[in-house]
Amino acid sequence: MSVHAKHDLLGLADLAGHLDALLARAAQMKEARRRADLSAVRPGRNIGMIFEKPSTRTRTSFEVAVNDLGGHALYLSPKDLQLGRGESIADTARVLSRYVDAIVYRAFRAEDMAELARWASIPVINALDNREHPCQIVADLLTLRERWSGSYSGHRLAWIGDGNNVCNSLMLGCAQVGLDFAGAIPEAYRPPADVLENAHRYAKASGSKVELTTSPRAAVTGADAIYTDVWVSMGDEADEAQRMADFQGFQVNAKLLAAARPGALVMHDLPAHRGVEITDEVIDGPNSVVWDEAENRLHAQKAILEWALPAERGSKR
Ligand code: CP
Ligand code: NVA
Repeated sequence: MSVHAKHDLLGLADLAGHLDALLARAAQMKEARRRADLSAVRPGRNIGMIFEKPSTRTRTSFEVAVNDLGGHALYLSPKDLQLGRGESIADTARVLSRYVDAIVYRAFRAEDMAELARWASIPVINALDNREHPCQIVADLLTLRERWSGSYSGHRLAWIGDGNNVCNSLMLGCAQVGLDFAGAIPEAYRPPADVLENAHRYAKASGSKVELTTSPRAAVTGADAIYTDVWVSMGDEADEAQRMADFQGFQVNAKLLAAARPGALVMHDLPAHRGVEITDEVIDGPNSVVWDEAENRLHAQKAILEWALPAERGSKR
């Protein structure tokens, strides 16, 4: 691959070696925005956004981020694109590459994400697929960085629930920055073996730990952050009844929170199913940082877009 390879963000692997700088830049852009400096560092860029699934946070934060950076976002519904009538992803990628400067894509299938990136000559940013949700994790690590004065080492994050897209990216991200990760996940819902293998590799390099258990209590013991997500992700609806049964005992509630370190932060990428994977008293309680996570999506997207888009308009990396 050329040293000028385009900066796709398909998963956390694409951020290996870049994550610390990206987080520092996101923090800087957040601070600048408070001073009404929008950091319009990528003027005139057009960003295509294809969303196969609903979105509140990702779509809105990307649109605002593109505006702040001085560009223009185009929301492209697959229903309206010829993609919905069977035009191939490869052909769509080649055509869009002639109009826009990057594509933000929320897909059902990671294979489709990879196919779009393969054929696009411009950067492709994963806005969630069934395997990863990398942009979410940049915002989450930014949130923790703010709370922990910029340092992750010596901290432990407990993931409670499904070994899903958010879990995969979070585990890889924690391992890259040196934050200990303990996942309480039922056996049948463990992350894929290759994701686990990569997480262990990053953890070894950063001097952190990645552990899996089936006991929420064991995972939260000693934790100073607890993260959960829905038990039924978009695309998993057919298994809803089975999942609701399998995740009994994995709710993040006041009793579980009491088993963590005092002051442990409570995290959720949202949308939450209140009363299912998390209780009202915990998500609305003093330990919750979920609104900061949601806000930080905006600042993270800006840093991601700046990283992905070459500084010179029209130039390829
Ligand atoms: N957390 C997240 O990605 O939310 P949306 O589905 O609303 O984008
Ligand atoms: N795991 C969830 C995340 C939603 C932002 C899903 O994929 O539906």
